[in-house]
Amino acid sequence: MKVSIKTRIWLTVFSIVAVFTLFLMFFFPLQQEKYFLKNYNLEVENLAKTVALGVKIAMTEQNFEGVQTALDFAKADKRMRFVALVQNDAGTEPVVLNIYPENYSWVPAGTISDSLIVKQAPFDGGELKGNVVIGFTTDEITKNMKDIRLTALLVSLVVFAFGILIGFWLARTISKPVLALRDAAIKVGSGDFSPRVKEGTKDEIGELSNAFNKMVTDLAAAEEKVKKAQDQLVQQEKMASLGQLTAGIAHEIQNPLNFVNNFSELSVELLDELEQEKDPEAIRAIIGDLKVNVDKIQHHGKRADNIVKGMLMHSRAGGSEKQKADLNLLIEEFLNLAYLGMRSADTSFNCAVEKQFDPALTPFDMQPQELSRVFLNLFNNSFYAIHEKSAAEKAQNRNFSPHVTVTTKKAGDKILISIKDNGPGIPDDVRDKIFNPFFTTKPTGKGTGLGLSMSYDIIVKGHGGSIKVDSRDGQYTEFTIELPLSS
Ligand SMILES: Nc1ncnc2c1ncn2[C@@H]1O[C@H](COP(=O)(O)OP(=O)(O)OP(=O)(O)O)[C@@H](O)[C@H]1O
Ligand SMILES: [Mg+2]
Repeated sequence: MKVSIKTRIWLTVFSIVAVFTLFLMFFFPLQQEKYFLKNYNLEVENLAKTVALGVKIAMTEQNFEGVQTALDFAKADKRMRFVALVQNDAGTEPVVLNIYPENYSWVPAGTISDSLIVKQAPFDGGELKGNVVIGFTTDEITKNMKDIRLTALLVSLVVFAFGILIGFWLARTISKPVLALRDAAIKVGSGDFSPRVKEGTKDEIGELSNAFNKMVTDLAAAEEKVKKAQDQLVQQEKMASLGQLTAGIAHEIQNPLNFVNNFSELSVELLDELEQEKDPEAIRAIIGDLKVNVDKIQHHGKRADNIVKGMLMHSRAGGSEKQKADLNLLIEEFLNLAYLGMRSADTSFNCAVEKQFDPALTPFDMQPQELSRVFLNLFNNSFYAIHEKSAAEKAQNRNFSPHVTVTTKKAGDKILISIKDNGPGIPDDVRDKIFNPFFTTKPTGKGTGLGLSMSYDIIVKGHGGSIKVDSRDGQYTEFTIELPLSS
């Protein structure tokens, strides 16, 4: 059960106040009454003893006025109701010798009554023996008790009201800032660093509020720093993949350039021949060859042009607009680039690449430069993995035929792309982390660990698709991408 701080403070204050009030209203008056009664009994008893002593002295001196004086001593007290001299001979009924007020029907000592306390003290007047019996009214005690009860009630009420006020104040001063802190902490937890709580009072809660504010300011600054660093790394990642690309591109461009160079050299020779040739038949043949050469030069020139355009597209900043593009072509282009890039880094690198492209996959809306970064990373990952495994298998003198299969498939309004390699696979404990930014198992300088997290963003956030991994340790890794046709 959830009990809020406010309720707890209320309950605590209320219980303390309630106990205190109960004590003031009941226990305290009861104690007082007992104390009063005890004292009163003692007082009356002592009076009886004093009078009895006076009576005894007067009687032994046969001074009957003295007896009267002794009795008067008791009469002088306003609280007295009666005073009696009672003869008490063994075996006979007590005989009242003297009683004031006259005709008062006396009550023997020890009688319990609400309004009367009766005490007696023995006297021994020689021949006459008996008791001095004194009755005192308890009116005064009753009145005192009434006053005490009334005062207790008033004090209780004041204490109760004061307690409730303190409870209210405590609940307000403690729970309000705590609630404000809770709300602010929830917001901060969800990534909003703007909330600040009011400057606190000069106590622990105030200190907590100030510490919270400082923490949020520091957090916001730290997050700003992390963001900057992250942006920088993303930029670095782009530059690094661009570097890998350049190696592939250099290789790719070299090929059409060779053609352009060879065919233009050939054409120069043909032109020299043409200058000397007289035979119209031969001249026509040379011109025909020249045309073919120029066509080839044009064709390979265009190829180089496309490669350069592709590279420019890749290096452009992300978040580009969607445009219609042929996914099969894009994948093929970057598969080749990645492969050539790998080979240019290690000329002994070899891998069978199988392409199963669905011809039904016609151009559709996508962010081609973004997707090209995804595929380049996936292909690079696969070739890197295979390269590692090849080296490991070679060291063990085992046979290994590296293999990468890339499949595209149109399935209803979805496109499925699979990239599967028979590399070392991804161990179970690593698989959960590979999409985390900066997670890499590659040595420093070889990978930033941003490839898959960036790919995830592009596929899931940019295209509303999904990217999943399936792998068996030591056997294979397969990445499957699903793209909706209408995103
Ligand atoms: N095909 C694969 N086979 C084996 N492991 C893989 C494969 N693809 C990804 N991984 C694992 O996932 C990790 C993260 O990959 P990711 O592409 O995010 O970063 P990276 O390749 O290490 O670095 P970068 O992409 O920045 O160069 C890799 O370090 C590797 O351990
Ligand atoms: Mg990578």
